[in-house]
Amino acid sequence: MGTDLEIIVLAAGQGTRMRSDLPKVLHPVGGRPLLGHVLEVARGLSPKSIHVVYGHGGEDLIARFESPGLNWCHQSPQLGTGHAVQQALPGVEPGACVLVLYGDVPLIRAETLRALLDHLPGHGLALLSVELSDPGGYGRVLRAPEGAVRAIVEERDAQGRERDITEVNTGILAARAGDLRRWLERLDNDNAQGEYYLTDCVAAAVGEGLTVSAVVCPDPSEVMGVNDKAQLAVCERAYQRRQAEHLMRAGATLLDPARLDVRGQVTVGRDVTLDIDVILEGEVSLGDGVHIGAHCVIRDAHIAAGTVVRPFTVIERAELGERCQIGPYTRIRPDTRLADEVHLGNFVEVKKAFIDERSKVNHLSYIGDSLVGKRVNVGAGTITCNYDGAHKHTTRIGDDVFIGSDTQLIAPLSVGDGATIGAGTTLTRDAPPGQLTLGRARQVSIAGWQRPCKDKG
Ligand code: UD1
Ligand code: CA
Repeated sequence: MGTDLEIIVLAAGQGTRMRSDLPKVLHPVGGRPLLGHVLEVARGLSPKSIHVVYGHGGEDLIARFESPGLNWCHQSPQLGTGHAVQQALPGVEPGACVLVLYGDVPLIRAETLRALLDHLPGHGLALLSVELSDPGGYGRVLRAPEGAVRAIVEERDAQGRERDITEVNTGILAARAGDLRRWLERLDNDNAQGEYYLTDCVAAAVGEGLTVSAVVCPDPSEVMGVNDKAQLAVCERAYQRRQAEHLMRAGATLLDPARLDVRGQVTVGRDVTLDIDVILEGEVSLGDGVHIGAHCVIRDAHIAAGTVVRPFTVIERAELGERCQIGPYTRIRPDTRLADEVHLGNFVEVKKAFIDERSKVNHLSYIGDSLVGKRVNVGAGTITCNYDGAHKHTTRIGDDVFIGSDTQLIAPLSVGDGATIGAGTTLTRDAPPGQLTLGRARQVSIAGWQRPCKDKG
């Protein structure tokens, strides 16, 4: 392009139709605010600066997105899209090439914007249009019989046959800052909405004999805007479809691409399989051959090669080694690390613990604030009592330990290597290595004892 690129993001609209206390552009798609998506694409174009025009919820927006490259411009009152761009122009270099984006159009792709910028004439304007079978509500692109763009007419200002036009304005456009400033100074608000329309720049450019090129966006989902919760949901599905395609291209097998939700960054190795209704949040990496069963929620986790996670398992902020077998119905809470070949079974909760190679906790147990050695077998119903009501204490379990079922380990304590703990023990002190330790009332049987029975009155 030869000139500096500056991007103006319009985000001052009230978002009334969202019927929400949250500013519109803070509503999430794929777990991230609408504006976050737009800023990421904008940054991908390496502009000299990004100007965000905001109106409502200014403090919330700035608190969420404050960063050195961002220039915040307040627009109040909001007199239309043309007026909005005018608020940002004083901070833009006169020779810069300006790209206008929208805070509520989150799925636009960098490639599409690059194509638009490539079509910006030396003087004139490039706008992004799209063909819609149902163009209702959008500004229509008016072309001369030979095809040149003449103007954009808003739906509410459209006359007669103009409403039948299916090529609509996406709102996204590019022009030189100096040209925009000149056109915007001459705008009036003599239209159905009494607003200063950015779209009137098109007719202004044509009136000066300048070229307006319209680049047709091939994928309507890219330029979908969010005005209400229904459109937010449509946008969410389009975004998820993209994430699913991305994962399938990376080699993942998705049993149903429509039943996977990604709310963060996911990387996959070869031959990863994801069954239905899996939610992946934050940063998740899945090694070669990892298999995730149905209905799992996995957030900020690294799962190494060959590990199988069975249905209904919840994992948060954890690292799982290779060839582990987890679930069904396991809950792995933050700061858990599993070495290779660990087995965790149904109704097992693990928190802030390290479990070493080939250890098994297969049923109904709670392991918290613990260090568990290699080849340990933890019996059903075992509880580490890590909390005394004020402080958390650590349980240390050595290698090759066998813990009988229904054992409580009252932390802090240690169980030595090779120790065996008898079932039903409440362990209150360290258990020495290599020995059987048990604390259990001696069993008695009372001969001739009669069970009480009800009086037969
Ligand atoms: C606009 C276009 C229309 C196009 C449509 C695509 C104009 C006049 N019309 O219409 O041709 O088909 O987008 O979605 O531009 N905003 C401000 N300040 C304002 C007004 C709007 O920042 O004073 C922001 C809004 O937050 C929103 C965007 O600009 O992100 C578009 O505004 P909106 O009122 O939704 O324009 P449309 O009527 O949809
Ligand atoms: Ca709109």
